[in-house]
Amino acid sequence: MALREIRIVGDEILRKKSREVKEVTPRIKELISDMFETLYKEEGVGLAAPQVGVLRRVVVIDAGVEEDVKKPMVFINPVIIEMDGEQTGEEGCLSVPDKSCEVRRAEHVVVEAFDEDMNPFSIDAHGLIARCLQHEIDHLEGILYIDRVKEQEAEEKGE
Ligand code: NI
Repeated sequence: MALREIRIVGDEILRKKSREVKEVTPRIKELISDMFETLYKEEGVGLAAPQVGVLRRVVVIDAGVEEDVKKPMVFINPVIIEMDGEQTGEEGCLSVPDKSCEVRRAEHVVVEAFDEDMNPFSIDAHGLIARCLQHEIDHLEGILYIDRVKEQEAEEKGE
């Protein structure tokens, strides 16, 4: 395992669309383990591969921080197939240092993805995990939460 360097806003790679993973190669396994190591070191809740400079559709989340229990979750090629409800809460991002903003997100999502053995699974998520999934899946499309904040501010002004 190794720590990876977090790409910071302004880096073009964060604006690119990530490619699907067809097969979990040793390289992808290493990427996933490095992403967890980096996530824990930085005390984040979630991390998407483009944040460490790799344009592949891989997301890791561990929302166990609050209870001091690690609950690592890996999502390969995640897709949101359902979303509803609304929640507003504070978000930050390891790629946007020293900043946080209120962001409006769906309260509930259903996400389909593949695990580390490429077995398909789905997750029905509410609250923090739902928020985190939306944030990380945005990264795979080159979208940052600060873009969502801008969009929502423009909406409120009726633009
Ligand atoms: Ni982020």
